[in-house]
Amino acid sequence: MENAFSDRITDVPKSFIREILKVTIDSSIISFAGGLPNRLFFPVKALQKAAFDVFEEAGAEILQYANSEGYLGLRQFIADRYRKQEGLEIPVEDILITTGSQQGLDLLGKTFLNEGDDLIIEEPGYLGAIQAFAMYRPRFHPVPVSEGGMDTAALGRVLSERQPKLLYTVTNFQNPSGVSYSDDNRRAVADLLRGSSCLIIQDDPYGDLRFSGSRKISFKHLLPANTVLLGSFSKTVAPAMRLGWLVAPPLIMDKLVIAKQASDLHTDYLAQRILHRYLCDNDLDAHIAAIIRQYGKQKEAMIGAIKDFFPAGVQHTNPEGGMFLWVTLPEGTSSMALFEAAIKKKVAFVPGTPFYVDRKDSNTLRLNFSCSDEPTIVEGIRRLGDSIKALF
Ligand SMILES: Cc1ncc(COP(=O)(O)O)c(C=O)c1O
Repeated sequence: MENAFSDRITDVPKSFIREILKVTIDSSIISFAGGLPNRLFFPVKALQKAAFDVFEEAGAEILQYANSEGYLGLRQFIADRYRKQEGLEIPVEDILITTGSQQGLDLLGKTFLNEGDDLIIEEPGYLGAIQAFAMYRPRFHPVPVSEGGMDTAALGRVLSERQPKLLYTVTNFQNPSGVSYSDDNRRAVADLLRGSSCLIIQDDPYGDLRFSGSRKISFKHLLPANTVLLGSFSKTVAPAMRLGWLVAPPLIMDKLVIAKQASDLHTDYLAQRILHRYLCDNDLDAHIAAIIRQYGKQKEAMIGAIKDFFPAGVQHTNPEGGMFLWVTLPEGTSSMALFEAAIKKKVAFVPGTPFYVDRKDSNTLRLNFSCSDEPTIVEGIRRLGDSIKALF
């Protein structure tokens, strides 16, 4: 049987995070390892009502096959939001509803990548993107990101040597590091790409979860013809609905729709209709405001505790939104070794390893702050601080 599997599936790394989460099932462990939105904010009652109302209204229609592009009302809602929030005029025809933004990544891989094609990915980068693209066996070119955005000198070097088809970025409150690209950095990246055929994939599931600072310019303003946007309702409404979207110009959209049809014909129509009804009857911005009030407080608690309990020489990001922050231990320290030590002290996190394309052991780690209350965060960071001190 071993020989029966495709090269494609054999090469793709198993989700290391899922492996780690198995260790953290023990309820005495404080876990900063997960990447989940906080379930306290799932709008249970409002979605229940939306489901009831939409069944009452539309009956059998919502149980039928539907079009591949997605429910027009939902796409219109997304287009209106881009106009209001970012001043972007997106025709509804340029919006494809996807089964989570994760499916958007897969469809883009399927549509653009032949084996060996060059692809630029920020590093550290979202593990799910590495997994999705790896299926199409591209040649990855990781470009470092840190506070302020992408290393443009490194990007320039790749562009002078290769002709990448795609560049993948999470420009706001990046997973895993929490960093955001500044406006200047976005402009510098756009300047480097201008005139090339490289497509920027701007994946933005966290952009609405901003608790300080101001919204930054979209690549869609800077390089409209070369930008594909990915969005998601997973972090603002509920991930189980698996509803995300992709924005692409018509030429690309035609191909993406074919890829989508081959994958799943269309995204769950019932879920689209329930979500649309929920969005019509409720104030999404008020809901998001409640989420970010809480996440913002939890992030502050984590930063405060890091200052109190981590030894000097440990660096960390201080995100203006999202769900994660990133810790860099002194050079030469292994975050895998720290993970082993920390589990003994009953605290967990994700070592940096899976977020690097070459999966190297590193001195970095990801901490999630969306799922633990403030006292738990303080206690967990105290334990982690003790674990770090014990390593030196
Ligand atoms: C950067 C990034 N992109 C995409 C996704 C996938 O989200 P969705 O639930 O919309 O598929 C995630 C999920 O954690 C993510 O962090």
